[in-house]
Amino acid sequence: MIDLRSDTVTKPTQSMREAGYHAEVGDDVYEEDPTVTMLEKKTAEILGKEAALFVTSGVQGNQIAALTHCQPGNEIILEENSHLFYYEGAAISAFAGVQPRTIRGTRGTMASADVEAAIRPEDVHLPETGMICVENTHNRAGGAVVPVESMKEVKEVADRHKIPVHLDGARLFNAVAATGISAKEYAQHVDTVQICLSKGLGAPVGSMIAGSESFIKQARKWRKRLGGGLRQVGVIAAPAYIALTEMTERLVHDHAHAKQLEAGILDVGFEIAERVDTNIVLMDVTSTNVSAAEMINLLDQEGVKAVAFGPQTVRFVTHYDVEEIDIERTINILKKVKDVV
Ligand SMILES: Cc1ncc(COP(=O)(O)O)c(C=O)c1O
Repeated sequence: MIDLRSDTVTKPTQSMREAGYHAEVGDDVYEEDPTVTMLEKKTAEILGKEAALFVTSGVQGNQIAALTHCQPGNEIILEENSHLFYYEGAAISAFAGVQPRTIRGTRGTMASADVEAAIRPEDVHLPETGMICVENTHNRAGGAVVPVESMKEVKEVADRHKIPVHLDGARLFNAVAATGISAKEYAQHVDTVQICLSKGLGAPVGSMIAGSESFIKQARKWRKRLGGGLRQVGVIAAPAYIALTEMTERLVHDHAHAKQLEAGILDVGFEIAERVDTNIVLMDVTSTNVSAAEMINLLDQEGVKAVAFGPQTVRFVTHYDVEEIDIERTINILKKVKDVV
C-alpha cells in the first residue's frame, strides 16, 4: 500500500526509536526532564524566540496560543480555510471563548489591507481583536507557501494596532525547504509560532510553541490546565529532537516527489486544483464522472491511499516513507483509473 493520505503517517526512524530508549528523563511538570529542556532550548534558538514549550500536538499548540493571547469575548482574525478555523472543532470558541473573523486569502495568503479592515475599532458594541493567525505552509491551499513579505506586512499592521500575531507553522519547515528562507526569518514577523515535529519531520508525537519568556510562562499554565503537563516525556522529546535537528533538510525530496506526482497527474489527463509548492498535491476530479470519495475508493482498491479534500478534490501528501518508485506506481495506477472515470 502506498500511503499518501498525510505526512502524519510517517513512522519514527530507527535512530528516533533508539533515542527514545536511551533518553535521559525527569518529571517535566517540575521542569526536570533534561531532554525536554534541550528540545525547548533548541527550538527557541532555531526560531529566534526567547523560549519554547513542548506540547502534545499542533492543535494543542494553536489552542494554547489562542488561550494565552486572548480573553473571552475577543475575536481572532484568520484565513477562512485555515486549520485553526476549519479543522479544530471550533476549539477557539469552546475553550478560549473567542469568535473567528475569517478572511478569504489567495492561496492561503491574507492581504494585509483585508486584515487591517477586519480589526475592530474601540466600540462598546464590538469584540476586541485578540489575535491574528497566519498559516504557513497553508494546508487547504495545497501546501502553498505564504510569502515572507506578506507576513511582514501583516505584522506591521498588527503592531500598529498592538495585536499579537500567531503563526500556525505546522509545516513551516516545508516553507523553509521550498524558499531557502530560514525559520528564524519567518518567525521574526510573528509573536508566537507553533511547529509540528510529527508531520514531515517524522517524530512519533509532538509540536512546539515558541515566543517570549512571559508568553511561554502563561502557555505552560494553559498546557497544564488542558492536561498536557506530562511527566517523563523525554522518551518522546528525544525522537522529536532528531526530527527538529536532522529531518528538515530532507523535505526537498518530498517536494520533488510532489512535483513528480503533479506532472504525472497532468500527463495522465487529470487536473490539479492548486499549483504545487511543497509536499501537498490537490487533484481536481470535476471533469470526471466520479466524486472525490469515489476516486479515493478506486485508488484504494489499486493500493494507493489518499483523502477527499472536498467533494471534487483529492489530496495526496508526500513524506519520507514514500520513494520515487512509489510515485511512479501511483501515476501508473492513476492511468489505469483514468480509463474508467
Ligand atoms: C496547518 C495545520 N495546523 C495544525 C495541525 C494540527 O496538528 P495535529 O494533528 O498535530 O494536532 C495540522 C494537522 O494536519 C495542520 O495541517
